[in-house]
Amino acid sequence: MEQRGFKTLIEADDIQHRVREMAERISVDYPESSPLFIVLLKGAFIFAADLIRNLSIPHEIDFITLFSYQNGTKRSADVGVINHIRSRIEDRDIIIIDEIVDTGHTLSRLIRTLKDHNARSHRICTLLDKPDTREVKIDVDYVGFTIPDVFVVGYGLDYRERYRNLPYIAELTPEIRKTINS
Ligand code: IMP
Ligand code: MG
Repeated sequence: MEQRGFKTLIEADDIQHRVREMAERISVDYPESSPLFIVLLKGAFIFAADLIRNLSIPHEIDFITLFSYQNGTKRSADVGVINHIRSRIEDRDIIIIDEIVDTGHTLSRLIRTLKDHNARSHRICTLLDKPDTREVKIDVDYVGFTIPDVFVVGYGLDYRERYRNLPYIAELTPEIRKTINS
């Protein structure tokens, strides 16, 4: 599907297929430890909703909002926490659900917190990975799709709070960004 300024990168059907595969993989890897999924808001809410509905293992779910000080599409290394996790972390197997790993600063902040609270293990599950823009080393355990260094929207990902509802992932071209900003 082609819309002015949008270039579809990943079709809705391909996302659904891949999310099912990821859930099956996680279900095999965690047969009985009842892992705690920590979902990064806001962007990962749609991915997480589809992923957990395809799990076949017992599990718990919690949410955290982290933010990086930013300016439009530019990220910074300064990451803050808005709401904290209330679930018990100690001795739990944690799976972080994120929608995209870009510089890695957000996740490295969260992983530090999990270590401080003595999690037994932690893994990262992300729909998208942008390895070319990484600034800190992060081990990503479950990746849906690896994408180049482009700004994407849809399936939970936004540009200035818009486009989260698109069922597919689209590249937001610099041209359309200019029209939105003008
Ligand atoms: P980080 O740079 O790895 O810390 O990523 C921080 C957050 O920036 C991600 O969780 C997303 O919410 C957001 N982000 C990074 N790249 C994109 C993008 O291409 N589109 C929309 N949001 C993005
Ligand atoms: Mg995010």
